[in-house]
Amino acid sequence: MAIVKKLLITAGPTREHLDPVRFITNLSSGRMGYTLAGVAAAKGYQVSLVSGPTHLKVPRGVQYYPVISSHEMKRVCSKLFPSHDGLIMTAAVCDYMPSTTDRHKRSSIGGLTLKLKRTPDILADLSKRKGDRIVIGFCLETRSLVQRAKEKVRQKNLDGIVANFYSPRKQVPFGDNKVRAILIDRDMKVIREPMQNKTSLSWRILRWMEKLNHER
Ligand code: C5P
Repeated sequence: MAIVKKLLITAGPTREHLDPVRFITNLSSGRMGYTLAGVAAAKGYQVSLVSGPTHLKVPRGVQYYPVISSHEMKRVCSKLFPSHDGLIMTAAVCDYMPSTTDRHKRSSIGGLTLKLKRTPDILADLSKRKGDRIVIGFCLETRSLVQRAKEKVRQKNLDGIVANFYSPRKQVPFGDNKVRAILIDRDMKVIREPMQNKTSLSWRILRWMEKLNHER
């Protein structure tokens, strides 16, 4: 067990541009990652926050690295990861990006069929060389939440994952809403958290991470 002092936290959505003014993104507000970063700093961790575009204020005491795209997030995270003891990947990295990006604004005359390609899986890539670092992922699903979350723990070589069920009607867990998360560790132990706000969930996630680290 290595003591976790320096935490790398990612947050927000990424933007995958198809031209200078148009992009693919998702509903992530960034609030979970920013709250987690603020709580971790208050708890005494040295925190680096790598974030896609959001409207949020950077929490006090946090080293901030703004990025736009998945490739940029990967570049910054790969550079920072070796000097950190743990990674918590709350970012909603876009899974797809346009297969080509135009340098100039595309004409809006006529139809458009977009060809997409996969973005790099930052979390899976970093956890391949995690050494004794602790690595926690996040996931959001509209069905088969626990099953899919468990698959991700295995596929991405994680110590744990925070799984959120997405309710389109209430837009939970995006924005300010309270969330009901499920914590799943590498032994597939499932902890169903009660409904709570993101500050209290952040304290809970950090205590859980410390316990997982202690048990290694
Ligand atoms: O999108 P998915 O459900 O696979 O996301 C699970 C975890 O993987 C999240 O922690 C997310 O930040 C990370 N991820 C990533 N790179 C991607 C897609 C997801 O690091 N291209």
